[in-house]
Amino acid sequence: MTRVLYVNPEKISLKNIKYAAELIRKGGLVAFPTETVYGLGTNAFDAYAVARIFEVKKRPRFDPIIVHIFSKKDIKNICFDVDERANMLMDRFWPGPLTLLFSKSDHVPDIVTAGLPTVAVRMPAHPVARELIKEARTPIAAPSANPFGYLSPTTSHHVVEQLGEKVDVILDGGSCPLGIESTVLDVTKTKPVLLRPGGLPIEEIESVIGEVTLSSSSKKPHSPGQLPCHYAPKTPIRILNKYKRIQTGKRIGLLAFTDPKKQEQYEMVEVLSSKGDLREAAANLFSCLHRLDQAGLDVIYAEAIEEKGLGRAIMDRLHRASAKRSSISSI
Ligand code: TXA
Ligand code: MG
Repeated sequence: MTRVLYVNPEKISLKNIKYAAELIRKGGLVAFPTETVYGLGTNAFDAYAVARIFEVKKRPRFDPIIVHIFSKKDIKNICFDVDERANMLMDRFWPGPLTLLFSKSDHVPDIVTAGLPTVAVRMPAHPVARELIKEARTPIAAPSANPFGYLSPTTSHHVVEQLGEKVDVILDGGSCPLGIESTVLDVTKTKPVLLRPGGLPIEEIESVIGEVTLSSSSKKPHSPGQLPCHYAPKTPIRILNKYKRIQTGKRIGLLAFTDPKKQEQYEMVEVLSSKGDLREAAANLFSCLHRLDQAGLDVIYAEAIEEKGLGRAIMDRLHRASAKRSSISSI
């Protein structure tokens, strides 16, 4: 049985928080209340633990995840290029239901941002979330604590029903005061772009920094991970199957699932997981793709993985990356 530990938000006792924080430090998964919805969190710097979040959420694809911080100085390790506008927003609305996008620092594993060059950061206001991040002494990467296709949970009961056994511990801090996810704003653009309407009204943001652009995805019901800016490698990618012949005379890279038997024809090989562990493979996927993409290859062949569990999300990523280039049929 998953442990559900109660923490009174009005009178925090640190015992349960410290227990959960220790789990997070060790790469465990903790569901915790925020002022918006319950999050499913782990150490943001631990790629393997973040891969487990995707596994538990059963998402058929990777979506970028918000990094939750305790204090403003925590952003130093996470992002850069924080301008005056962003500072004004942070000073006014943090802690609170506003998530800001910044340029991502190399310390943050690529799986957290699903390979994007930007990272979403938020400082939650809920006392339980705040104490948890503080005691964990690390930023916490956390999506909403619901499986794919379900509504975001606003009570610990929802989390128990939706994710139950798959979480190491659930911190029960009562129901979430706002009950709607945070507003997501991209401040890396000359004119800030609203990516997801949420708990902080756009008018309040505009009263501080002026007009904000509404992205097309923020006008319709949002669909995370469908953002047009999703990272796509420059090098064409082909999914390897037994019918596909490897071309000669080209600089070819291989994205292998486990250690490949034949390597001679490849200029460069990246292995997702020598021991064939899907979680490790997911944790390595984006950094392997980045390295292959930067190697000046003509084409990258990617081994197909069985579309089960995290294998589905990995293949979704590879299919989308390869479909983009299907028009370049000469390669
Ligand atoms: O209120 C909230 O934001 C809750 C609590 C737990 O903090 N979290 C939450 O996370 O709703 P999630 O993963 O369910 O939604 C995060 C949204 C998604 O739409 C995702 O695509 C977007 O933020 N997002 C995250 N990082 C992004 C990035 N680098 N670029 C664009 N969009 C990003
Ligand atoms: Mg969500």
